[in-house]
Amino acid sequence: MNNVIISQHIEKELQAAIQRISPDRLFVLTDSTTLTACWPVISTFPCLGAVCGGLSAASVPVVPAPPASDSSPLEPASASSPLKPASDSSPLEPASASSPLKPASASSPLEPVSASSPLEPASASSPLEPASASSSQALVRGGFPAAKMITIPPTDEAKTLDSLSAVWTALSEGGATRHSLLINLGGGMVTDLGGFAASTFKRGIAYINLPTTLLAMVDASVGGKTGINFRGLKNEIGVFNAADTVILDTHFLRTLDMQNLRSGYAEMVKHGLISNTQHLAELLTFDLDRLDYARLQQLVGESVAVKQRIVEEDPHEHGIRKALNLGHTAGHAFESLAMAEGRTVLHGYAVAWGLVCELYLSATRCGFPVQLLRQVTQFVRETYGQFLFDCKQYDRLYELMTHDKKNTAGHINFTLLADVGDIRINQTASRDDVFEMLDFYREGN
Ligand SMILES: NC(=O)c1ccc[n+]([C@@H]2O[C@H](COP(=O)([O-])OP(=O)(O)OC[C@H]3O[C@@H](n4cnc5c(N)ncnc54)[C@H](O)[C@@H]3O)[C@@H](O)[C@H]2O)c1
Repeated sequence: MNNVIISQHIEKELQAAIQRISPDRLFVLTDSTTLTACWPVISTFPCLGAVCGGLSAASVPVVPAPPASDSSPLEPASASSPLKPASDSSPLEPASASSPLKPASASSPLEPVSASSPLEPASASSPLEPASASSSQALVRGGFPAAKMITIPPTDEAKTLDSLSAVWTALSEGGATRHSLLINLGGGMVTDLGGFAASTFKRGIAYINLPTTLLAMVDASVGGKTGINFRGLKNEIGVFNAADTVILDTHFLRTLDMQNLRSGYAEMVKHGLISNTQHLAELLTFDLDRLDYARLQQLVGESVAVKQRIVEEDPHEHGIRKALNLGHTAGHAFESLAMAEGRTVLHGYAVAWGLVCELYLSATRCGFPVQLLRQVTQFVRETYGQFLFDCKQYDRLYELMTHDKKNTAGHINFTLLADVGDIRINQTASRDDVFEMLDFYREGN
């Protein structure tokens, strides 16, 4: 089970965790955006030793996505839209002919960090030297091994087998052993991929999560689900293996953009729905446009406690942990459809849209209060906008829902609610039910 610490003394907590684990080598995995935004906050911590040898996986190849069609059902991206414009690159294409598992070579994705990197060595030795066991040992500071940086590209597009391979390669070339420690500094992409890399390298090394997005703080970094996307499917490959320690410091959120903040907030609303009416009411009335960070920190604490309680009861999702999937069956289908069409939606936005769908099913099948359905629907519309699709895409969305990992024997399994906190897992729905749900999502109010 995760040791989750909510703290504004991240240095003290990190040092204590590293001392307890007592690793022989220390690695920090982050993505290039988090590196700029968050690394300066912790780069001077003595417990990270003297940073040496930056290892960058920034050139991990990303396979081009098909061009977005003109007839895309998705709203055009706008400043306030969570829908990113189609980019040249999609990580969710089938693996290319060239194996991502080839050993590091001259064309390795691991490159030295650039001169403009915030990773300056704390010693005279060059930060650009490739990581090696000897350099690691040479730069011990205050009894702590020097941390080596591993940087991958940002966003879910990098949550791929190629990035994973690059991290394994960096660990291997950096001399990692079974007694080494990986610290994941970043959002859910980094904590998922880093957690999986650590869980599989030499059959498992310890890892610590330092989540830097709201979504990672209240959800992704806690509970031990790790993994990568594969062949167009989200989190298709992975393992359950909890971090040794998770340290939450909402100070990191001050550099996070509003879209990513709202994305994480959707998971908090979900936690409100599966816990109690008071927590839900606080969340639905909290002013996201004028952030009170002190209050947000309290809400984050309450939110992560909801997840922890459930995960402790059912770590491997055989039963009650499925409560955490509220909104995710429909949400993942929206996310996958958007990705397949060359656009990306932030995970939390898809979950928020999925909550509207699944609360509708909850109301029609389990008696969830209609007044509350309307309140949540209005909140989601105002905060997250609308995911546009037409009825010609219902079959595709239904098919995507049939791939959901919670399904059994060909049935789509929803998590529904009879009321706030009154959870009904393993609720099946027919094709007609799903189509009616999608009708409500598009038209109902
Ligand atoms: N394991 C789980 O239980 C679980 C649960 C929910 C979601 N997830 C996964 O989490 C991922 C989404 O996580 P996310 O929403 O954190 O996205 P993310 O990790 O892609 O981060 C979003 C963006 O914010 C940047 N960023 C991170 N911290 C920042 C900061 N403090 N300031 C400025 N920028 C910052 C990142 O570089 C990135 O560009 C998805 O892959 C999803 O599948 C996992």
